[in-house]
Amino acid sequence: MTAEFISVTFPNASNELHPIPNAPVDPQFLERYARALDDYGFNYTLIPYSSSSFDPFTLGATILAHTRNIKIIVALRPNTVYPTVAAKSLATLDQLSGGRVVVHFIAGGSDEEQAREGDFLNKEQRYERQEEYIRILRLAWTSTEPFDFDGKYYQFKNFRSAVRPTNGLIPISLGGSSDAAYRIGGSLCDIFGLWGEPLAETKQQIDRIYAEAARAGRTDRPRIWVTFRPIVAETDELAWAKAEKVLEALKSNREKGLGRTPASAPPPANVGSQRLLEIAARGDVQDRALWYPTVTATNAGGASTALVGSPRTIADSILDYIDLGADLISIRGYDNFNDAVDYGRYILPLVREGLREREEAKKKAAA
Ligand SMILES: Cc1cc2nc3c(=O)[nH]c(=O)nc-3n(C[C@H](O)[C@H](O)[C@H](O)COP(=O)(O)O)c2cc1C
Repeated sequence: MTAEFISVTFPNASNELHPIPNAPVDPQFLERYARALDDYGFNYTLIPYSSSSFDPFTLGATILAHTRNIKIIVALRPNTVYPTVAAKSLATLDQLSGGRVVVHFIAGGSDEEQAREGDFLNKEQRYERQEEYIRILRLAWTSTEPFDFDGKYYQFKNFRSAVRPTNGLIPISLGGSSDAAYRIGGSLCDIFGLWGEPLAETKQQIDRIYAEAARAGRTDRPRIWVTFRPIVAETDELAWAKAEKVLEALKSNREKGLGRTPASAPPPANVGSQRLLEIAARGDVQDRALWYPTVTATNAGGASTALVGSPRTIADSILDYIDLGADLISIRGYDNFNDAVDYGRYILPLVREGLREREEAKKKAAA
């Protein structure tokens, strides 16, 4: 049994507890943060994308240059880069780093957000375009002969890339919770990204993804990635007191217009966020320690379900998801740098120990 850990890249010290409006990229912070993730045993860091955010490719190149093991997960919206260009950019970064690149596809959950960068397709069309895009990337990485592509969204002739990924292909991930996301992720992707939902709902989503993989005739299945925002302290009691403080800060920053989602934001259009809000309406705590007030306080703007407790409680909660079939665990906090260090010191070792114990128990049972 194995599991790998994902964090998220932050280009400066601004965070949701202490936002610094319009903070520029801080190269020293970025380097220190990336090195901390690498040193504490994180396996990946996601470089997220929004219409107003920094360029993920250049941030990624910087992280790779300052680290030895960690892989970058570049969030990519198909409307932002022509696919043959993205294939070469990703493969170039992959060669520069000895194969430390993953690409994470975002079809785009909101028409308004997509329109900010000139994308006026509806969501169904965006997913259709994403499917073509993924097929083009794989062709560009593997085809030794020039090839044509005659799709609905992309047409080109006689393209050949001389830039091959280090290991032949670059892993392709997809995030979303709509039918189209399950279909494309299940049939075409190496990794499927989910936000943290209770165990029962996560199991339903995993089953849907696996069913789509089987329907597409795949003999393998996408690896499952689940995302949490742990709030950790020495004891459960201290962690719950800390959680209330985090919640207060999120609410007051949003009221002041400093939150990630404006106070006047309409209900989210993407299914993943809608699901989080529906579950939040059922109660604050699910399973061992999955906490939803942080979801409601941020209008489910991205990954927002917390896990609250001591390192033991959080590690046990994470192990529950690994037992369910998730083997990529994304954890990022609210005080980004310090939380990453705390996770690296206190949570990652406990989860890895739990995995070793499971392996030993399996070996004993088989003997
Ligand atoms: C793990 C994960 C990471 C994501 N990262 C981003 C991101 O960086 N930028 C973004 O706009 N959306 C991101 N999303 C959101 C979805 O990709 C987006 O809402 C999707 O395109 C449509 O969602 P739906 O199929 O659930 O309706 C992420 C989703 C997941 C599950």
